[in-house]
Amino acid sequence: MRVLSGIQPTGRFHWGNYFGAINQYIELQHEDAAFYFIANLHALTTVRDPEVLQQYTRDAAIDLLALGLDPEHAVLFVQSDIPEVSELTWLLLTGTPMGLLERCHAYKDKKSRGLSADAGLFNYPVLMAADILAYDSDTVPVGADQLQHIEVCRDLAASFNHQYGDIFQMPKAKILDSSAKVPGVDGEKMSKSYNNTLELFEDPKAQRKKIMRITTDSRPMEDSKEPESDHLYQLFSLVSTDAAREEMAALYRQGGFGYGEVKKALAEAAENYFAPARAAREEWAAAPDRVDQVLGDGAAVARKAAKEVLQRASEACGTARSGSK
Ligand code: ADP
Ligand code: TRP
Repeated sequence: MRVLSGIQPTGRFHWGNYFGAINQYIELQHEDAAFYFIANLHALTTVRDPEVLQQYTRDAAIDLLALGLDPEHAVLFVQSDIPEVSELTWLLLTGTPMGLLERCHAYKDKKSRGLSADAGLFNYPVLMAADILAYDSDTVPVGADQLQHIEVCRDLAASFNHQYGDIFQMPKAKILDSSAKVPGVDGEKMSKSYNNTLELFEDPKAQRKKIMRITTDSRPMEDSKEPESDHLYQLFSLVSTDAAREEMAALYRQGGFGYGEVKKALAEAAENYFAPARAAREEWAAAPDRVDQVLGDGAAVARKAAKEVLQRASEACGTARSGSK
């Protein structure tokens, strides 16, 4: 069973990325043969500065390793290191109906806001399908927002198989736990696009300041409050111990506390929770050769798998390189 997923390097990772996706990927590395990649070709549809894209790609690799992605268990690589995926994208594109892509939300949303979309964004789901099919992936863990893209991938695989024979393995989505939806500092869903994030590895002092500015309601201090519906409590419960979480919940129900105290407790709990990853990050960042080695080894393993699939697909559709048999 091969598990595969990709994550775009479009900025520094935040708590939403970690609790909503990354920690669940890391759990899965222990169950199955896992491939994880940094989707820099997808990020190119939004990040146009070459140095920034290089830096985000590198940071993503270091962050994932620091957070516990273990190269002994999982294959970690950068998407563009596997050129076979781009060729496979073309083979799939030639059989992709325009209408299928016109219905995909990234493109549709941009159009509906009156913005002009480029062909990269339009074809984004086909590149994603090639990412999945190139490694004979069985299970693709993704957030619910990516489900439509997995459906496109399955459609394209089925029609290619129908046309040319049984070439592609049919993948399945594994929807990540959506109860892990993490609120941002304003109480809305945490997202880069809302500018309300707590980054995983930001300077602790800067993070403490951000936490102290988290918006709260203005109900009187003595009122009893329902913890589960408060975003400050929700954030606290992600990074606190079970005992501290229960104590905090009791405090909310009892009332008579100030949000300032909760914020201080949150800042401290966050520092403790991420301290081991922060230390590991420093070690990885100080060893660029080790990072290169992991990504190089990962790319070699992934490339071997992708070459086999591309060979199968190109033989089936009549574009196999002369002399490649
Ligand atoms: P952003 O909204 O900041 O641009 P992305 O869309 O790059 O984040 O998210 C990458 C992954 O992280 C996705 O799988 C998504 O489901 C998950 N994720 C992002 N924000 C949150 C959040 N606030 N709560 C839970 N999961 C999230
Ligand atoms: N599009 C995905 C996202 O934005 C990232 C991604 C690219 C991906 N290729 C993939 C995820 C293949 C799973 C499988 O989150």
